[in-house]
Amino acid sequence: MSKVVTIAIIGAGARGRGYARFALAHPERLKVVAVAEPNDYYRNQVAEQHQIAPENCFKSWDEFTQKARMCDAVAICTQDSMHEAPAIACAGLGYHILLEKPMAPTPEACQRIVAAVKKAGVMFAVCHVLRYTRYTEILRQIIASGEIGEIVSIQHLEPVGYWHQAHSFVRGLWRNEAESSFMLLAKSCHDVDWLRGIMGKKCTAVHSFGTLRHFKASEKPAGAADRCCDCPVSVESNCPYSANKIYFRDRLCKGTTVWPVNVLVPDPNAEKLEKALKEGSYGRCVYACDNDVVDNQVVNMLFEDGSTASMTMTAFNFNSGRKTRIFGTRGEIDTDSSTITIRHFLDDSTRVVDTETANDGGILSGHGGGDGGLMNNFVQAVAENDPSLILTGIDETLESHLMVFAAEKSRREGTVCKL
Ligand SMILES: NC(=O)c1ccc[n+]([C@@H]2O[C@H](COP(=O)([O-])OP(=O)(O)OC[C@H]3O[C@@H](n4cnc5c(N)ncnc54)[C@H](O)[C@@H]3O)[C@@H](O)[C@H]2O)c1
Repeated sequence: MSKVVTIAIIGAGARGRGYARFALAHPERLKVVAVAEPNDYYRNQVAEQHQIAPENCFKSWDEFTQKARMCDAVAICTQDSMHEAPAIACAGLGYHILLEKPMAPTPEACQRIVAAVKKAGVMFAVCHVLRYTRYTEILRQIIASGEIGEIVSIQHLEPVGYWHQAHSFVRGLWRNEAESSFMLLAKSCHDVDWLRGIMGKKCTAVHSFGTLRHFKASEKPAGAADRCCDCPVSVESNCPYSANKIYFRDRLCKGTTVWPVNVLVPDPNAEKLEKALKEGSYGRCVYACDNDVVDNQVVNMLFEDGSTASMTMTAFNFNSGRKTRIFGTRGEIDTDSSTITIRHFLDDSTRVVDTETANDGGILSGHGGGDGGLMNNFVQAVAENDPSLILTGIDETLESHLMVFAAEKSRREGTVCKL
């Protein structure tokens, strides 16, 4: 029987607490033995749920790394610009590392993490959860079988969702590049990595356009207030981005108290939410925030054998799942992250594969089961000392991050960037 892997949660925010839940569901495989988190409420919650000894509860990652190695692995789930220092320190102490994506906001910082991990010889997985979905596994098998021949081009849509954009990228933690990272890195490094994985070849050049088209002061309706609760036009019927609509009408009133509502206040109820919308950053008008990340972006990619891919990230949709079309020499695939439809040129026949995974509404079922799939593989990799279970090797992870940095350079400079 495999050993029980022990892990420390560094940053017990939404993601960190979610990954920790794997240990509650599989106590025979994973035990959370330490937590580093400045927020008392979340640190205490994780400590209580996992019965962590008080001496293993830290207010910051650097208090944790001052101690000698106390477990097998760490899950580093701090914000984007706070990944590099704990990752390098934890590698130096010999911890196997699960690192939230993106690795870091600059190519140099990503390269420093890679160098530290390679020097330490520890296992390292970046949370590119899309690679771990059942859907991706089946899609890769179909492609590898040669059913559609060689891939020549891919068209991929990431529909962020109008309310998700407003929540995370206009009002929330990833709205401002200087405070977190640019949009393509924060939101779509997943997708670029996934496309690289599906294509299975090196990318040689990228080109991108993208703008902040809508969520800016010039789009603010006449007479709108800076806060939704004071706004005459922010009644639900007039503004799809109204905070009252997104958090109260569409969620709390329907009994939803989990993400994104619990990002505003822990254990939300009407009274706490009302106060948060009145005083906090999530009650601001989407046209009166300090956001600067793009709300739409396209990326074109050229691969080493002449095949191409295009990706569109846009806020303006219902967040109804990523959609991809894959064009091969013998057929085409049309997918919505759940159902895969394959059409064959030879006889015009169609085959449909339903890859739907059970969804219990918890964070580990997030991203089509990819969150749970990632934890499953990482924990097994550590238990059995088998890095092959980590589907995004360190070099390929760095490569897909470098594609993202090159695409962003292209967007800013209006050039084609060679890799
Ligand atoms: N893989 C995915 O699909 C996915 C999805 C969403 C977010 N993310 C990434 O996951 C990371 C975390 O996102 P989140 O939504 O959980 O954010 P979050 O803000 O909820 O969590 C971050 C936590 O880090 C804590 N923290 C701050 N300073 C700290 C310190 N010195 N030491 C330890 N902890 C500290 C914060 O208090 C907070 O609780 C981000 O990098 C984000 O981009 C990945």
